[in-house]
Amino acid sequence: MSEVDWESRYVAADTPWDKGLPHPILAHWLGQIEVDGAIVVPGCGRGWDLRAWAEAYPDHKVIGIDLAPSAVASARENCLGLANVSVKEADFFSLEQWYDGEKVGLLWEHTCFCAIPPTLRDAYVETVAKLLPSGAHLVGVFFTDLEDPHTGPPWNTTMAEIERRFAPHFVIEAFDGKHQTFPGREGEERTLVMRRV
Ligand SMILES: C[S@@+](CC[C@H](N)C(=O)[O-])C[C@H]1O[C@@H](n2cnc3c(N)ncnc32)[C@H](O)[C@@H]1O
Repeated sequence: MSEVDWESRYVAADTPWDKGLPHPILAHWLGQIEVDGAIVVPGCGRGWDLRAWAEAYPDHKVIGIDLAPSAVASARENCLGLANVSVKEADFFSLEQWYDGEKVGLLWEHTCFCAIPPTLRDAYVETVAKLLPSGAHLVGVFFTDLEDPHTGPPWNTTMAEIERRFAPHFVIEAFDGKHQTFPGREGEERTLVMRRV
């Protein structure tokens, strides 16, 4: 389910979202967040965040999912030597393609929600709700204040939209628009911590 040919973007090295590093907020969060179960990273790209989660939580299985074969190959290479990582070449929305039913404790969202067509946002919420049992967390970074909110990807969202779409399944525990981020993204995104009800 994608309007963008992500594989072509990777092949053409047209990947401005890829900073070659984990999201800077992870330096503060990793190890601070208690996780009971596997960690899932949808749209993991070349695996920078995946590696950071796997190193910080060596006793947890960390699962990355991406549609683009080139991204998956890079993520696998980036995570070589980390026995707790698995990278699935799959459509995140098709759980039967990649999910083997194990307990998920946390989902890390970074530039997947903004990458999918906005028409798939309810499907995203439903997929995440199916994966996370009650008490598990969705932790992530969402673009809520892009200069051009009408074109994408990245597709902008708002706090009001996030609250409305996630409300049936999640309680927002914390959000912050002043966190550490990549240069150039300051003021465009918010971190959110949501708990599955
Ligand atoms: C903007 S990129 C972000 C990649 C990575 N999170 C990062 O920050 O470097 C969006 C990623 O989501 C992947 N993607 C888009 N739709 C997807 C879907 N339905 N299932 C799995 N991956 C998807 C794309 O292939 C791409 O790698």
